[in-house]
Amino acid sequence: MTNIGPILHNVEPDPERVTSTLRDTGYDFNDAVADIVDNSIAAEATRVNIELELDPNGDLVFSVTDDGIGMNSEGLVNALRYGSARRSNAASLGKFGIGLNTASTAFARAIHLTSRNETDGAFTTAVWDLDHVPARGWNVEELSEADANDSLLIEDIAGHQSGTTVRWKKIDRVLRAYRLPVGMHAQKAVERLSTSLGEHLGMVFQRFLDLNDSRAANVEIAINDVLVSSWDPFRPAGQGDPISEKILNVSISETEKAPLTLRVFILPSSKKISELYGDAAASSIDISNKKQGIYVYREDRLIHGPDWLGIWAQEPHSSICRVELSFDHRLDEAFQVDIKKSSITLDNALLDNLEKRVAPFRREAIERTRQNRRQPTPGVGKPNIHAGSDETIREKAQDIGVFEPVAVDTAANTAAISNRFGSVRVKFFENENQRAYVDPVESLTDGILYEPAFVGGNQGVRVNTSHPFYEKVYLAHKDDLDTIQALDSLLWALASAEFANTRDSNKALFVDMRYEVARALRRLVEDLPEPEEEDI
Ligand SMILES: Nc1ncnc2c1ncn2[C@@H]1O[C@H](COP(=O)(O)OP(=O)(O)OP(=O)(O)O)[C@@H](O)[C@H]1O
Ligand SMILES: [Mg+2]
Repeated sequence: MTNIGPILHNVEPDPERVTSTLRDTGYDFNDAVADIVDNSIAAEATRVNIELELDPNGDLVFSVTDDGIGMNSEGLVNALRYGSARRSNAASLGKFGIGLNTASTAFARAIHLTSRNETDGAFTTAVWDLDHVPARGWNVEELSEADANDSLLIEDIAGHQSGTTVRWKKIDRVLRAYRLPVGMHAQKAVERLSTSLGEHLGMVFQRFLDLNDSRAANVEIAINDVLVSSWDPFRPAGQGDPISEKILNVSISETEKAPLTLRVFILPSSKKISELYGDAAASSIDISNKKQGIYVYREDRLIHGPDWLGIWAQEPHSSICRVELSFDHRLDEAFQVDIKKSSITLDNALLDNLEKRVAPFRREAIERTRQNRRQPTPGVGKPNIHAGSDETIREKAQDIGVFEPVAVDTAANTAAISNRFGSVRVKFFENENQRAYVDPVESLTDGILYEPAFVGGNQGVRVNTSHPFYEKVYLAHKDDLDTIQALDSLLWALASAEFANTRDSNKALFVDMRYEVARALRRLVEDLPEPEEEDI
């Protein structure tokens, strides 16, 4: 009997199918460029020049040139392989051996890679062109003569030393087709692209760009000869300390642990930053919904965020809370970095741990924001959204039946009324607004939503503007005066019923009832969205 072994069938991938599918891994332009810059930094570059402009035909010109260690012909071929050799340095910004090809072909149909890897050595250019794949399969072309223009770009930045230019050609997925290919709209689109890229790189490579940050090697990055500035999300004008700093030791095997650094920052409000460091600092640090959350760094490069990793939503009250989470390659497994290096997936235990540690500071940030907003800005009055209700109630109040306050005690803020149960003391507040029936106040005892009171001499209701019901329901509809009036009418009617039915023996019951209502409403509106910043 002969042993024939397993029957094997070749399932070598079809190059055309694979390479065209890999164009759609979901890169956005900024992430793709950051992936190319990763390679320059991994190659120990100190300078990176990005070219991003329109040529006279309206085609996009894009290249990245660095003064890194460069590559010889063999290196170029390896670089253009889908699945290039594993890097010897596990801490490198390159990890999967596929970034150069997938990031580039997400936007371009061809890559021209020119490099020299030793002082005064020769330049070599290798080309990967998707249009050649049907005929040439997985073969890379080395040009008989290196690209002269790109060799010059390398000399510009590296002199006689080594360096590399990655050039995208046949760029077909960045700009839409403009009727005038070099017209104003196309030019503007490229400007926007370049501004957004600069901001992205300034954030992603902040530790490399910032000369004062010693955590990473210094690198200069320029886009069309303009240097990219670093953007530090945590320290406006380079100032400020974390409110909490912890190194967590995460188990990576039965015996090994690796450090995860967690630093929580609560930034001053935008207004405070303006006062402290000037308007430019406030505008640059950009205290906004989208910039809050956890910024995750792998080997000093931002790979995810900012967001709350699905733990919480980004909402205006927590805008001043930003968290720095840093790890090195040893935790790659625990963070499951995706191939675009733009997102991560955390296991639940780690997420729970983070949530527990960050939650108190996030709550503190929310509390500080609320406190801040409670202090009225002198001289800046908000339009009174209750004015319409005041007028309607004024017109109808006499028909409904209201009480006259007597024996007013302004020191104690009380007055007496006579209802069908006799005389009873109720709350009485002076009010500048003599037409007020619905009085929005900054807070009410025990966080209740409303209380019956005479306001400005009228039998009215005081409404707590800090109660979430006010913030999430009233403010969310502040431009819809019918809705405001309906809400006001309801609260005023409840207050009015209380005036009519209160007596000394049941006073406490009404107070309890209002407390229960406020508590229930607080829970019920919990999941409604927070109001936009400008509403508050
Ligand atoms: N600018 C460069 N300078 C020198 N070598 C480079 C440069 N760009 C790419 N390479 C070489 O090409 C190889 C492939 O790069 P590629 O980006 O595809 O993979 P990677 O960086 O190893 O991993 P990842 O997929 O995570 O980016 C690198 O390992 C490196 O050897
Ligand atoms: Mg790479």
